[in-house]
Amino acid sequence: MEKQRVATLTLDDGRSIELPMMSGTLGPDVIDIHGLSKLGIFTFDPAFFSTASCTSEITFIDGEEGLLYYRGYPIEQLAKNSDFLEVCYLLLNGDLPNAEQKQEFNTLITHHTMVHDQLARFYNGFRRDAHPMAVMVGVVGALSAFYHDSLDINNPQHRAVSAQRLLAKVPTIAAMSHKYNIGEPFMYPKNKFTFVENFMYMMFATPAEEYVPNPTLVRALERIFILHADHEQNASTSTVRLAGSSGANPFACVASGIAALWGPAHGGANEAALKMLEEIGDISNVDEYVQGVKDKKYRLMGFGHRVYKNMDPRASVMRETCYEVLKELGLENDKLFKLAMALEKIALSDPYFIERKLYPNVDFYSGIVLRALGIPTNMFTVIFAVGRTIGWISQWNEMIADKGQKIGRPRQLYIGEKRRDYVAVNQR
Ligand code: ACO
Repeated sequence: MEKQRVATLTLDDGRSIELPMMSGTLGPDVIDIHGLSKLGIFTFDPAFFSTASCTSEITFIDGEEGLLYYRGYPIEQLAKNSDFLEVCYLLLNGDLPNAEQKQEFNTLITHHTMVHDQLARFYNGFRRDAHPMAVMVGVVGALSAFYHDSLDINNPQHRAVSAQRLLAKVPTIAAMSHKYNIGEPFMYPKNKFTFVENFMYMMFATPAEEYVPNPTLVRALERIFILHADHEQNASTSTVRLAGSSGANPFACVASGIAALWGPAHGGANEAALKMLEEIGDISNVDEYVQGVKDKKYRLMGFGHRVYKNMDPRASVMRETCYEVLKELGLENDKLFKLAMALEKIALSDPYFIERKLYPNVDFYSGIVLRALGIPTNMFTVIFAVGRTIGWISQWNEMIADKGQKIGRPRQLYIGEKRRDYVAVNQR
């Protein structure tokens, strides 16, 4: 039998503690520090730079090498050969479906895309100018009030039904938030379309006109969804897991993930990147803007990543898609696109960015593609949420299915006041 490897921790009071080492199938080994709390010792790792919060079989990332695998399959292969629903099946179930399973899954999801009609009335409570992400947090959370028959999280069948409902209904809710925002009628889903075609139909069609999806644009959005489907324990997924660890229902957990995704350091980056390009305005202003970044006045949005210290493999795929879409739409000479390419060139050659390993990330290119597809900037993060829903629900499901699962509860290093006595208000 192989000997258990250990890491030895020696404290300044002379105590020495042996901590077991754990190995995964890929990636670095980890030190199991579980036992430390029994000795009254905690580790300090704000922002989780060095802490694995769980075991997972879903997604693998090697940031140094720029690798991303879903269930072992490289993201480039999936983006090239697969479609979004097949990737969803893979993430949720662990393996690619055979032809029959694929057909069955597609039919199942297609037949769950309508939302409870009463949910449509929920929208009227929002101001017309509400940010669609605010609407998403509210409406997705509200699903728990409509689908009581699938809320027993300990029942695998209930969990499967909730997963199907979330996957199928989040795009409908997202498109409705857009239609509400622009004052157009909601478009009900159409089963003759594929998942992505249907989403584009609900976003862009009106009852007045026939809608014919453009295959290049459908493929581009399909890729955006595939590339954003999961990314192991990122901020929003960790939020979903932490919310779920208390036993909260999956609709509420996914709503918490949407809230976490909203921030500009995470899912809001594609919106922020495009706003930045608009702010720079002209290629002649790029040098001055980059100098401001180096002087740390602001960050270059759509650049850098906590884990990737090499080109993000999703960014390489998205870059290719970006060129395809702009060519299809005849936008190669678009002012903003040229500006983006000038920034990309600087970031890939300037020592400031090279030393800090700051490469363009997937959101830099997806922002440009989404704009070209005619998706308004305030919907960019919503699109990310539509793609990421399957990741959130797969990770949540994996956690709940784990028999040893416990409520997540980080500790802290307290640096506040020591004990002190209450002072009456007239004596302060
Ligand atoms: N522009 C300029 N400088 C940057 C950027 C950036 N986008 N990102 C990091 N840096 C610099 C920092 O100033 C720091 O420099 P220093 O060593 O001189 O102090 C160094 O790079 C390291 O930065 P950290 O903040 O420690 O890196 P961290 O891993 O915490 O940040 C993050 C990662 C939040 C993604 C960051 O790169 C960032 O803010 N990027 C812009 C927002 C963005 O595009 N987010 C999308 C992430 S991808 C996704 O969610 C799908």
